[in-house]
Amino acid sequence: MTKILMVCLGNICRSPLAEGILKSKLSKNFIVDSAGTASYHIESSPDKRSIAVAKKHGLDISNLRGRQFEVSDFDGFDLIYVMDESNFQNVVKLARTPEDTGKVKMILNEVHPNKNYEVPDPYYGGDHGFENVYQMLDEACEIIAQQLQ
Ligand code: 4NP
Repeated sequence: MTKILMVCLGNICRSPLAEGILKSKLSKNFIVDSAGTASYHIESSPDKRSIAVAKKHGLDISNLRGRQFEVSDFDGFDLIYVMDESNFQNVVKLARTPEDTGKVKMILNEVHPNKNYEVPDPYYGGDHGFENVYQMLDEACEIIAQQLQ
């Protein structure tokens, strides 16, 4: 069973959306989870703007709760997708082995290989930013799902 973890900073805007989108594209034979590198939003629901944009596209992510990335996630997951360079640095600095490091990937590199494009943090922006993030993540997750299945 392949296990995939989506990681952003707060685990309330981008990574819960990525979790919901990828889950919707995969069968039950996959585990998809999300986490944040920061501890600000442990046990929080996703941001209401992420819940709304997901709902607009037919997904319910309202039951997800925030948690912080931990070193044991390198054991629990096969693939760790991060949203931006800062997430990448924060996760990779916790890696214990080259195998751990090798699990960590910038999610938009699935769409634009080796470019290291970032999913912008929509937290301080308006609703438009959330739709933009949704579209980016949907495109990336479609490719990830095709590769995995
Ligand atoms: P996320 O967005 O990393 O996509 O969940 C953020 C959410 C909260 C904060 C920053 C980014 N914050 O500073 O509280």
